[in-house]
Amino acid sequence: MAFHIRIFVLKHVLYFVGICLLFSCSQPATEQISIIPAPAHLNVSGGEFVLDSKTQLIFSEADGFQNEIDFFQLYISEKLGKELSIIDGRNSLEILKSNEIEGEESYSLIIQEHKITLKASHGKGIFYGLMSLKQLIPPSNSLEEIRLPVLEISDQPTYEWRGMHLDVSRHFFSMDYLKRYVDLLALYKLNKLHLHLTDDQGWRIEIKKYPQLTEQGAWRTFNDQDSICIDKSIEDPRFALDPKHIKVIDDRLHYGGYYTQEELKDLVAFAGTRHVEIIPEIDMPGHMMAAISVFPELACNGEAAWGEVFSTPLCPVNEEVYTFVENVLTEVSEIFPSKYIHIGADEVEKSTWEESSECNEFMRENGIEDVDLLQSYFVERVTTFLQDKGKEVVVWDDALAGGIDASLNVMYWRNWVAEVPDKVVKNGNDLILTPGDPFYFSSPNSKLFDIYNKKLLGAKFPEELSYKIKGLQACLWTETIPSEELADAMLFPNVLALAERAWSPSSIQDWDAFKRRLPSQLDILESMGVKYEYKQSNALIPFMNVDLENKRIGVSFETDLNDPIIYYTTDGTIPTSAANLYQGEFFVNGSASIVAAVFEDGEAKEPILKKQVDYHLAIGKPVVYNKAWNPSYPAGDAGSLTNGLRGGDSYNDGFWQGFTNDLDVIVDLEEVNDLSYFSANFMQLIGPGVFLPGSLEVSISEDGKTFEKVLTLNHTISSEEEGLIFHNFEGSLEGKSARFVQVNAKNTQSGFMFVDELVIK
Ligand code: ACM
Repeated sequence: MAFHIRIFVLKHVLYFVGICLLFSCSQPATEQISIIPAPAHLNVSGGEFVLDSKTQLIFSEADGFQNEIDFFQLYISEKLGKELSIIDGRNSLEILKSNEIEGEESYSLIIQEHKITLKASHGKGIFYGLMSLKQLIPPSNSLEEIRLPVLEISDQPTYEWRGMHLDVSRHFFSMDYLKRYVDLLALYKLNKLHLHLTDDQGWRIEIKKYPQLTEQGAWRTFNDQDSICIDKSIEDPRFALDPKHIKVIDDRLHYGGYYTQEELKDLVAFAGTRHVEIIPEIDMPGHMMAAISVFPELACNGEAAWGEVFSTPLCPVNEEVYTFVENVLTEVSEIFPSKYIHIGADEVEKSTWEESSECNEFMRENGIEDVDLLQSYFVERVTTFLQDKGKEVVVWDDALAGGIDASLNVMYWRNWVAEVPDKVVKNGNDLILTPGDPFYFSSPNSKLFDIYNKKLLGAKFPEELSYKIKGLQACLWTETIPSEELADAMLFPNVLALAERAWSPSSIQDWDAFKRRLPSQLDILESMGVKYEYKQSNALIPFMNVDLENKRIGVSFETDLNDPIIYYTTDGTIPTSAANLYQGEFFVNGSASIVAAVFEDGEAKEPILKKQVDYHLAIGKPVVYNKAWNPSYPAGDAGSLTNGLRGGDSYNDGFWQGFTNDLDVIVDLEEVNDLSYFSANFMQLIGPGVFLPGSLEVSISEDGKTFEKVLTLNHTISSEEEGLIFHNFEGSLEGKSARFVQVNAKNTQSGFMFVDELVIK
């Protein structure tokens, strides 16, 4: 036993020493501290505080922090084998109320050699201070003492809504899993858990007035999503359906489950002690097949069926539907004391409404012009009902189609409809940013780098309305996530990147520092039994920075790796370890074909990055659009095609500009130039309907009035060719001179064309 204790002591002493060995030479002291999300202000001095069973916990009952004290004492008793003494001690941890600390979630944590002082005006702030302290404590249990660095933190969140979501309908998750999820969210200072409780594939919340909803609606024979999971489980057992949620009904295997009201109330109370608000979502009027299967009369056509794209929705002109909805929401409101209730309003198959004579008659009688407005009528009625109960309503951004009241909170998820955030805030609504890319963690494309770094708003977002952004949230949709292990892998450590974005001021968000703080957190996750998946790709993520003054482009790389060795060439050849060693941003004057890779043991690792960079005549020059870009894909608006910043592999990356008509633009070089070369890069990806233009023409002019056609560029790539294809339409302009260059690309497939960049030399 003694031997074990010595090892434990040694191990936790080494915890800090190890960090110091890793960082002391090159990193500032604050980076030796692994707290995620990074505190707004952190100062580290030398020295340490020794927390052990001789440390006294000082607090006043009158401050009302008993919940937080109990929470911390329980944690400390796991670490040290007993709670801190409240009578006397060799040193102390004092927790006290200070009304000088503004904001309920703010706190101040000062660790001195003989005293720790934690102050806040509210239990929330005390709780978050304790979470920071908890992250400084080594994850192993049965410690004799805990050495904490001397430091000062004063901290507060950037956003009031810091959320995670879980879809428990498509696949079901146990109460134990939900509670551990809440514990993890709280540890990273996230304060909202949005539970997607009902959908086409299962009704997961007991409603006493309609027991059939769970007796029948919570169970299904295996569906197509289950089949996909079962197939995938041959390769990866994490895709196997969780046997906890399978039972035999009438001799057939069924998948499902639901939460009783008692269980949900218990979860709400559990989350409350951790300052996590549970937001229930009852998705309506669409995504309702689990209920409509039980009560088909709730659909206009009396059938639980699939329409062209989505399932048959509730019938918005049937009073019985409102009785049903109100009865359900009354019980939901009683279970969840949360300020917010989410009513979905996404992906509604309105064709059944268009086909319904009752809907048409109702619309005629009430002057409702189309089915989008009919959906708004439904949303408004349900909203009024909930607001009368003192609730705020949340909807997905699809609800905007027919117009919505400014009192609704809107979750922006359709990142391919780029104008949504602007519309939401201009309409007066509060906005919660949940863009599918990068905040749908269920997507295999969701990458830690993007979660931490990707721009969430377009260039046109009205800065003066930023205060309408209530916060950030990421989602886990579980169509093909049937196990807790796989959910863990999709969630962690991604949740930590979201947490830092939502809490820490943007001025201190730093990808390299975040990566350095991550390993200690992964130890904590492991100690909590989290089956996280930290994928560190060797891929280089290129960044370009146009320097108009010096007529050059700065190129830099980011990666998932800590301190990678990178070599690059600028002449298109594959780099070896004799090539240029990357030591930070380098500059390209004119053109360069950059090839770069991460090296390990002198060998280039896949994938090798290839990137064309051109400082050309059109950079920074005005572009007139004779035909507009599609508003969903503005990239950086009018400057995008000639900004020197080339789009990458995704049309969604904010660099590619999208067109559903022809591309017809005129670049004004601002003076007559001798020309030598033209190119325009396009993309094809036929799955989502992205095609190359049929052909492209270039015309030039000195006066902007009379144009001469100088190039007609074609290609031989079939519009049926699959995969991600890029085609550079290029041609020589040797011997020509012009001020204006007109580019016209024919959209012959009636799909999307994506272009970036127009290069003129
Ligand atoms: C959604 O992903 N349908 C909100």
